[in-house]
Amino acid sequence: MAYQKTLCILKPGVLQRRIVGELISRIERKGLKIQAMKMMQIPRALGEEHYAEHKDKPFYESLVGYMTSAPVIAMVVGGEEAIPFLRTIAGKTKPAEAAPGTIRGDFALITQNNIIHAADSPESAAREVALFFDEAEILDYEDPNADWIS
Ligand code: CMP
Repeated sequence: MAYQKTLCILKPGVLQRRIVGELISRIERKGLKIQAMKMMQIPRALGEEHYAEHKDKPFYESLVGYMTSAPVIAMVVGGEEAIPFLRTIAGKTKPAEAAPGTIRGDFALITQNNIIHAADSPESAAREVALFFDEAEILDYEDPNADWIS
C-alpha cells in the first residue's frame, strides 16, 4: 500500500442537482481524506489541457464544452491507494457499465456527463493535481482516525 493523492472533479450538473454533499459523503465514508477543495468554473484553456489526451477523439470538443459550461467542485483526495479506490467509488466511465452502488452507477446516464472525474494513474494524478492546485493549497493535517481507517 502506498499513500497517493489524486484529482477528483464533481462535474457540471452536480451543483444544480444538489448532490455535492451526497457524493463527497461517499468519498469520506470510504476513508479517503480531502486535502484540497474549490468550487470553480473551469476556464477553456484549462479544460483543453486537462483533456489533452482526448484531443483527437470525436467527443473532445463537446467534452471540453460540457466541462466548462457550469461550476464544478475540484478536490485533491488522499489516502492509501487513493487513485484506484476513487476510481472504484466513481464506477466505470460508461454509466451503462457502472455497477449500482458506484457514483456513476447511481447518478449518471450519459458517458460524457458521467458526473465525476477521477485520475486514472499516478502519472495522470500528478499532472492533473498540478493543473488545478498550487502546492500551497494542498493541506497535510493531523488525522487521528487514520489508524482506524487504513
Ligand atoms: P473522465 O473520467 O472525466 O475522463 C475522460 C472523459 O471523457 C470521461 O470521463 C467522459 O466524460 C468522456 N468520455 C469518454 N468516452 C466518451 C465517449 N465515448 N463519448 C463522450 N464522452 C466520453
